[in-house]
Amino acid sequence: MPDTITITDDRTGKTVTVPITDGVFPATAVRELDPNLYIYDPAFMQTAACKSAITYLDGDKGILRHRGYPIEQLAEKSTYLEVAYLLLNGELPDKVQMDQWKHDVTHHTFIHENMRKRFVDGFHYDAHPMGMFISAVAALGTFYNDAKQIDDKASRDKQILRLVAKMPTLAAMCYRFSVGQPFVYPDNSLSFPANFLNMMWKIGDYEIDPRLERAMDVLFILHADHEQNCGTTAMRVVGSSDSDPYSSCAAAAAALYGPAHGGANEGVVRMLTEIGSIENVPAFVEDIKSGKAGRLMGFGHRVYKNYDPRATIIKNAAYDVFEVTGKNPLLDIALKLEEVALSDEYFVSRKLYPNVDFYSGLIYQAMGFPISMFTVLFAIPRTVGWLSHWQELLADKDQKISRPRQWYVGTGERDYVGFDER
Ligand code: CMC
Repeated sequence: MPDTITITDDRTGKTVTVPITDGVFPATAVRELDPNLYIYDPAFMQTAACKSAITYLDGDKGILRHRGYPIEQLAEKSTYLEVAYLLLNGELPDKVQMDQWKHDVTHHTFIHENMRKRFVDGFHYDAHPMGMFISAVAALGTFYNDAKQIDDKASRDKQILRLVAKMPTLAAMCYRFSVGQPFVYPDNSLSFPANFLNMMWKIGDYEIDPRLERAMDVLFILHADHEQNCGTTAMRVVGSSDSDPYSSCAAAAAALYGPAHGGANEGVVRMLTEIGSIENVPAFVEDIKSGKAGRLMGFGHRVYKNYDPRATIIKNAAYDVFEVTGKNPLLDIALKLEEVALSDEYFVSRKLYPNVDFYSGLIYQAMGFPISMFTVLFAIPRTVGWLSHWQELLADKDQKISRPRQWYVGTGERDYVGFDER
């Protein structure tokens, strides 16, 4: 069987044959047939918008690998900073490289005092931390005029370092503002996750439980990248206009904020709270099926038509966290909901399984994070995924400014008429 596809334009009889490589064929085939012929593909369901060597995902088999390494192995054996290095550089670091990277990230965690004193203080007292975070990421870029030098590798590397290192600081700053607590400066003697926890929770003496520090790191690893999702696509689209990486990351964070994307973890906890008890689960599932209760948050995925491998790892990590914090009372409702949904024809036939957000919110809540911080917790580690894709985009000779076409369905030409004639 030849690995080619032949397309015939029945209007003209013109035929084009092009190769299929890894299940993909070039859209140039359509352009060759007729430069004014377009493919209608809302939500990019069938479109590969780029080549990427960062993350491999097989949605039917539930496989996720970064640079070839299975997510299960990374979550068990690696650290977030090591995974960040892997995503950005393509290979795991040796000891010297790792020490240097750790040192560099650790020594870029501070932010300009004006970010805290002037910028953040301008927000309303009950501003949502994610709204503050998105704005803070964009504002951060204004402190670095060299950020615009995206053609200079040294400058790009510097901005990447700054963004990876300062995200936990920005996130904690937004939280402390929202609860009216004084800002805690980064402590460069701590690990990446411990430093974040310290900036979040330190009041007087605060000791970090190593099990929570590890759980935070595992959650960071699991959220580091997920190929061409909505946020990463936003990063690539904005980055394609040669925007600086802070503006592009702010756009990606804004995309992540939506409840169908990174905002779903908030939705899950709200939903479980609303269900209230195990007895109410079957009726709630019926309400979902009949369309009365919206979507089952934390279920379903555009690519996974199987259990999201990250959800399996998070579910196990939840038990480790609950050992320290005590069980989140919503866990039993979540387990029952999963059991009922996975044995229901509606969810089975549509291949709807728990995704990464189904259990992550329960851990965050048990660790003391308010619901409004959940998407911020997702954005901290995802920053490295966005930046890895941004680097890859800039190096890709096939890429140009993103500019999809449209199928115009509006009215044809007509003459303007004044108010009297309308
Ligand atoms: N609950 C109930 N029904 C659902 C759900 C759900 N969570 N997800 C999909 N469906 C149904 C949908 O109604 C449709 O049914 P029908 O064919 O009868 O019209 C069918 O399944 C296919 O849905 P779709 O909207 O075409 O699927 P999609 O690939 O466009 O949507 C999704 C993917 C993640 C947006 C969607 O599953 C969803 O809204 N899930 C809930 C929100 C959520 O958990 N999001 C987090 C995603 S994972 C983390 C991340 O990416 O940030």
